[in-house]
Order: sequence, then structure tokens, then C-alpha cells
Amino acid sequence: MDRISITGGRRLEGTIPISGAKNAALPLMIASLLTPETLTLKNVPNLADVNLLARILRNHGVDLAVDGKRPGPARYLGETFHLTARDIVDTVAPYEMVSRMRGSFWVLGPLLAREGRARVSLPGGCAIGTRPVDLHLAGLKALDAEIDIEEGYVVARAPSGLTGARIIFPKVSVGATQNVMMAAVLARGETVLENAAREPEVSDVARCLVRMGATIEGIGTSTLRIQGTDSLEGAVHTVLPDRIETGTYAMAVAATGGEVLLEGARADLLEAALQILTSAGVTITETNRGLRVARNGGEIEPVQVETRPFPGFPTDLQAQLMALMTRAAGTSTIRETIFENRFMHVQELARLGADITLQGEQAVVRGVPALHGAQVMATDLRASVSLVIAGLMAEGETVVHRVYHLDRGFERLEEKLSGCGATITRLVG
Ligand code: EPZ
Repeated sequence: MDRISITGGRRLEGTIPISGAKNAALPLMIASLLTPETLTLKNVPNLADVNLLARILRNHGVDLAVDGKRPGPARYLGETFHLTARDIVDTVAPYEMVSRMRGSFWVLGPLLAREGRARVSLPGGCAIGTRPVDLHLAGLKALDAEIDIEEGYVVARAPSGLTGARIIFPKVSVGATQNVMMAAVLARGETVLENAAREPEVSDVARCLVRMGATIEGIGTSTLRIQGTDSLEGAVHTVLPDRIETGTYAMAVAATGGEVLLEGARADLLEAALQILTSAGVTITETNRGLRVARNGGEIEPVQVETRPFPGFPTDLQAQLMALMTRAAGTSTIRETIFENRFMHVQELARLGADITLQGEQAVVRGVPALHGAQVMATDLRASVSLVIAGLMAEGETVVHRVYHLDRGFERLEEKLSGCGATITRLVG
């Protein structure tokens, strides 16, 4: 299994291109199931999760063509996918695949809406909490689907089609909003989703659906009003930049010091995180090419943060912020309110000398004068990148094991960081 070796202590200087957002690309690819015509997606990141979902979609009958890549700077522009689900040949999404990636569970809504039936394995994904799917199922039931759980599979049927409804989500869920929204666009009549997730990735999917001929009002708000239609068309859509990758590299620069242009990044996608970084002593400037992030001298100031649904501070940046705060000039508190078990990086950060105490859903992080390189283990996607950030700050060598977690969500991480002066290499095998 590949490992990543980092020798800390180098400032980051240069440019990092920001890729398309994984958590938008995945549901956007799934949206191709809703139409027999071709959905073209530009700026798709080259990630393990994207490749796995492509295999799952091929099983359902989606034909995927990928535009060739030219050498040179164009290779940083993401891939262009042409997805065509002319006929759905199989409405089963098997355990072997869905258990490896939670995002693939979102095929349920579109398959059900288009074919009137679907059999989808209960999902897997990062081990960061129990992660139920009750909100997805309740939403689809409200649209008149019959749903049973049989042998670990969700078996959904809507023999005479789905019917629009008013659904009030009891809790904000990105996945349930996307899944039910994708089903509702092909339902009869109007669906109103209240307390819908407002994450930019949800809005990106909604905008793509509108390009495909759907009628959705309230995009970007917590109330989505959808008028169902009989069929959707093909469209061309560009995946929005990855706000989590943006925040991650911004925190890496904050950690090492230096100045980096995050090319293509958009401040409006992560204002809460940028505010926290500013209060920690980082200078962030919007330019027409992206975001310039700098910390030149000065200490990292401690912060008090709690994770919240968008527009709050994202849970997907919690681990990275914690890595940064291990070297702050004082004590930070970081409260995780979205997932109940998303602190597995704490014991790994402690191997590097971090001083972190867990009190229920809150971590108390006391800044230490130095971290020291060690062998550490990646436990989930965002936790693994927090170990990379810690390694960049630590004295000596840090080796991160199980980096397949990292490959699920960060495109060419070593290349992007070493291009800015970091000493980071992949040890293959
Ligand atoms: C999405 O997961 C993302 N995944 C996650 O990113 C992200 O952490 C999360 O949203 C929150 O922003 C994808 O987009 C593929 P939720 P999702 O439903 O949709 C509870 C990463 O690292 N809940 O918004 O699965 C749930 O347990 C990943 O890229 C229910 O109770 O998250 C959690 O406490 C990790 N019942 C809360 O809601 C349900 O049916 C929010 O989860 C669904 C969710």
C-alpha cells in the first residue's frame, strides 16, 4: 500500500490549481441517469471515487466517454465526461460497489424516478459516524415510493411513477436533499423541500438539472420548489471548484507560512472558513485568478469553532483546522456537530506531539511549540489530509500510511504541494 513521506519545515510559495469539487462531481454524474440524452460535465476531478462511480454507472447502462488530455497546462483543467444513459439496463446497485462509497447511494432517487424501481445496497463510505439513510428513504416515501429493506438492500418501487409532495427534512442532509431533488424532477406535480441543504454542491446539481430542463426555484436557499416533468434533456455543465480542497491548501499555507495563489478558487464558497483563517492571522486576498493566501511571520492565533451546515464552518475542514491549531499560540476549541465520530485524527496528531483533549463533541487543542515527525495512519479522507498538514509543520520526517483514503478526494496532492516547495513524495507499494 502506498505511503506518503513528508519532511516538514518548508514554506509554501507558488500556485496551486484547484480541481472540480468531488462532492458535486459525484451527484452530477448520477444525474445523467435521469435522461436518455448526453450530459457533458467539464472540470471533473481525476479521483478514485469518481472512477469507482463511473464503474457503478456503467453497470446501470451509462455510456461514458472522456475527452483526451493534452500535455501542458491544459492537463490541470479537469476532465470532460460525456455520460449517456440511453437505456437503463440494470436497476441494481450492488453491495460490492456501494459499500465502498456512500455517494453512490444517490443513484436510488434517479433510478426510481426514471424506471419506477431500484434495488440499491445500503451504503458505506468514510467511517465517521453511523451515517443512516432514513432521511433519503422518508423523502422518497413521501413522493409515493414503496420502500423495503431486503438482505441489506433498499428495494424501492413506484409502479405508477412518483408524485410530488411537501417534505420538511427534520435535519439538514446534503445527500438526502440531492437524492430526493433528483427524484422529484421526474415526479408528477410540485415538490417542495424544506430545510433543504444549502451546500454549494447541492446548488450546483440543481443548476445542472435546470440546464437539463427541470424547473427548480429557490436554489441556494433552504426551500426548493420543484415542478416535475416527464423527461429531461442533455446539457453541458461545468463542475464548480472544490471548496474543501481550497480550504485545505489555505490551511496548509497557514501552517507552513508563505504565500500561495489558489488558482480558480472562489471565496463565496467558503466564507466561514476564510473568516476563521483571517482571525487566525492569515491574509486572504481575492484576485481575478483565484484566492491569494499568505502568512508571513506572526503566530497562528487560536480559534473557537463549531462545524455547521453551509454557510457555517464545514465538517469536511474540521480535521485540517485542528492540525493547524496544534501549533497555535494558545488554546483552541473545535466542536463537531455534524458527525459523532469524526475525531479519529486526534490520536494520530498526538503521535506528532499535538496536545488535544476530547470532551464529548468538543476537542480542546493546546498549541505546542513544535511537532515532531512520526509514522501515522490515515483513517478517513479529511483526516488523512490533516496528517499531511501536520507533517508539513513537523520537524523531521512524517510517513502517512493508508493513503488510499487521500486518493479518494485529493487530486495530485503530492504534485500540487511539491510544486510549491514542500518536501513530499509518494512511496509506492
Ligand atoms: C455529504 O455527506 C458529503 N459527502 C460529506 O463529505 C460531508 O461531510 C457531508 O455531506 C456534510 O457536509 C458527499 O457529498 C458524497 P449529510 P452526506 O447527509 O450527504 C445525518 C467527504 O469527506 N443523516 O449531510 O452523507 C448524518 O448522519 C464526505 O467528502 C441522517 O441522520 O452527509 C449526519 O449527522 C464525508 N439521516 C448529518 O445528517 C440521513 O438519512 C449530515 O449528513 C442522512 C444523514
